[in-house]
Amino acid sequence: MSRVLRSGRYTLGPEVAAFEQEFAAHCGSRHGVGVNSGTDALIMALWTLGIGAGDEVITTPFTAIPTYAAIRHSGARPVFVDIEPDTFLMDLQQVASAVSPRTRAVVPVHLFGNPVDVEALRGLVAPDVAIIEDAAQAHGAAVRGRLVGGLGDLAAFSFYPTKNLGGYGDGGMILTHSDAWAERLRRRRMYGMVSKDEFVEDGINSRLDELQAAVLRAKLPHLEAMNRRRRRLDAVYRQLLPPAVTPQVVRPSVTSVHHVYSVLCRERRDGLAAALERASIQTNVYYPMPLPRQRAYRVAFGEHAPLPVAEEVCGRILALPFYPEMSEDTVARVCEVIRGFFGEG
Ligand SMILES: Cc1ncc(COP(=O)(O)O)c(C=O)c1O
Repeated sequence: MSRVLRSGRYTLGPEVAAFEQEFAAHCGSRHGVGVNSGTDALIMALWTLGIGAGDEVITTPFTAIPTYAAIRHSGARPVFVDIEPDTFLMDLQQVASAVSPRTRAVVPVHLFGNPVDVEALRGLVAPDVAIIEDAAQAHGAAVRGRLVGGLGDLAAFSFYPTKNLGGYGDGGMILTHSDAWAERLRRRRMYGMVSKDEFVEDGINSRLDELQAAVLRAKLPHLEAMNRRRRRLDAVYRQLLPPAVTPQVVRPSVTSVHHVYSVLCRERRDGLAAALERASIQTNVYYPMPLPRQRAYRVAFGEHAPLPVAEEVCGRILALPFYPEMSEDTVARVCEVIRGFFGEG
C-alpha cells in the first residue's frame, strides 16, 4: 500500500496489470481484466458477448442477487432451473431442457465455493451458447484438478472483503482465454477509450484501484493455504455435526473452497439459529428465498413457476460460523450446541 501511495498512481496502473496477470495465471486463464466489483464483472461479461433484450440466460435461482441483477441489467431474460438437493448447485440435467432458440448464455454459480462441473455443462449446450462462470464465491475451487475461472468462456470474480480472496473494499475481475474479448473489456471498463482522446465504442467507468490490487497481490500467495485450512475445518465439522444437519455435498470430482459453510437442517432451522444465537454463535441464512420470489423479479416478470427443490432448501439451510482463522475448538463448540439442541449431546 505504501508503494502505491508513493507512486501517486491510484487506478489501472502497474499493480492492477501485475495482479491481472498473476490471478489469470493462477486460475489457468489467459487474460484478467480488473473491474470495480463482481457485479460489474458479470455485467461486462454479458455485455461483451452482446447479450441483450430478446435473449435468454439460464442460471440458478439459489444464488446471491447480483447474478440476477447482472442478467437483468443486460436486458436479457433470466431463465431459472432448479437445483440439486445435496450440492445446492444448478441441476445440469434441467439445463438441457431449459435451452431455447433464444438462449445465449448459461451462468453456472460455484455456490459457497462448491464448483459446478463446467465440462459436463459444456456437453449439454450448443457451442454457440456461452458459459459465464460466476466464480465470486469460489477462488481456488477446482473441477477434476482444473481451477474455476479457466473453465468457461468467461468468468467473473469478486474481491469483496469477505470473499476467499478479498480486498480492503470492492473489486472484481473477468477472466477469459479470448484476446479479442479481453481487449474489448479493457476498452469498455474505461469509457471505450483506446488513447487519451480517442473513444471507439461505448464504455463505462469500472476500474480496479491500485490499492486493492496491491492488497490482493499480497494475499494471493496465501490463498491456497487459506483454502486448505477451510477444507480442514470442513472435515472437523463433518466429524462432529449430528445427523440432524447435513453439510453441502461435494462430489468426488471437484474441490470445494467452502466459502460459506451452509448445512441443511432436518427440522427446526429457525429454532436452531435461535439456540446458537443464545450461545453467542452467529449464523445466517443464505438464501432465504429463491430469486424469482424477490420483488424485483416479480415486478419485472410476475410469478415464476415453482422451483420445489430450491424452495425446500431455502427453508432448511443455515450457514454456520466459518473462516480460515477459526480454531478447531471453536468448531467443536458450535457442534456441541447443535448436538445439544437436537438432544444428541
Ligand atoms: C454469487 C455471487 N455473484 C456475484 C457477486 C457480486 O460481487 P460484488 O459484491 O463484488 O459485486 C457476489 C458477491 O456478492 C456473489 O456472491
